[in-house]
Amino acid sequence: MHQHLLSYRRRRYLRLSLGLLVASLLIYFSQAPTLPRNGGSWQGYTLGGVATAMILWLAWLGLRKRSYRSSLGTVQGWTSAHVWLGLSVLPIAALHGAFQFGWNVHTLAFVLLTAVVLSGIYGMFAYLTLPQRLVRVHGDQSRADWLTELNAIDARLRELAVDADARTQAIVESAVDRTSLGGGVLAQWFGFDRSRVLDPAAAGQGSRLLGNRGQQRLIDFLAARIPLAEQRGEVAMLQELLALAGRRRRVLDTLRKGVRLNARIKLWLVLHIPLTLGLLSALTVHILVVFLYW
Ligand code: HEM
Ligand code: HEM
Repeated sequence: MHQHLLSYRRRRYLRLSLGLLVASLLIYFSQAPTLPRNGGSWQGYTLGGVATAMILWLAWLGLRKRSYRSSLGTVQGWTSAHVWLGLSVLPIAALHGAFQFGWNVHTLAFVLLTAVVLSGIYGMFAYLTLPQRLVRVHGDQSRADWLTELNAIDARLRELAVDADARTQAIVESAVDRTSLGGGVLAQWFGFDRSRVLDPAAAGQGSRLLGNRGQQRLIDFLAARIPLAEQRGEVAMLQELLALAGRRRRVLDTLRKGVRLNARIKLWLVLHIPLTLGLLSALTVHILVVFLYW
């Protein structure tokens, strides 16, 4: 769906938005050259009114998207309209204010509009490129398949660890228990790995809770433990633990990349929507201020 988002119906909305832009330029330059151009001329009011109407309409998309019973065209057509018309609001608003910026609420509205548009541009690229990357990361398995594999590995690790010596058992079980995946907004966005492992023998070093990023500490411990095996069968058990820990690292890495891409596909709206609300508030104040004091 998103592939066709921008070229919907032969770029109908791109042409509409360019048309609006040309009309706005004509209106702007129709202002008497002897006067400094500004938002208070009839041309200024017209452009301000057009920009405001467009902003209200774009913000309304949120409501429209959630109402699937609506009969006002397709969601895809509306998204394409949203993107192209959204891009043209910024120059129209700049023409309205005649490029006069300062430390005031008028400019605040303009800055918020810029932020909304920039977050929108980011979101558009996220929609167009990241879903394919997500598919490539997951390969021919789904996210649910990877999670099932992780659960199977965890169960087998616990099963094997029961027969191991106390330290190995503690390390393996705590590595499984204290694996971190996902988390808060920032952890998802940046793909932080805050996995830990509890080593009972590390008491002398301050904390027994050690970092286990990429499951590295678990893997290093198991690899070093194999040559120290004393009992028959222990080597095979430790080797299986090591192989599982290695595979587990790969599975977690894939899941973590998936979480990260998913966050980038979705979480930008966490900026786009509040910025829109901020813009609507600043715009209300701007309009009230100019009517009351100008
Ligand atoms: C004045 C400008 C804009 C306003 C007020 C605005 C507001 C909004 C709102 C309220 C939503 C709905 C969010 C939701 O509830 O899911 C939305 C979605 C979106 N916006 Fe904007 N936006 C603006 C400009 C832009 C621009 C310039 C772009 C891209 C270049 C853009 C890209 C998007 C995209 C891709 C979505 C998601 C649509 C979907 O999920 O189908 N926006 N915007
Ligand atoms: C119905 C809608 C609007 C009305 C009636 C309106 C009215 C005005 C008026 C009368 C001025 C001239 C003020 C002056 O020169 O001191 C002005 C300036 C300005 N407006 Fe608007 N406006 C509207 C919408 C918008 C929108 C949508 C934006 C941008 C988000 C915007 C941003 C600005 C800016 C940046 C200025 C220049 C401020 C300055 O001169 O320091 N306005 N507006």
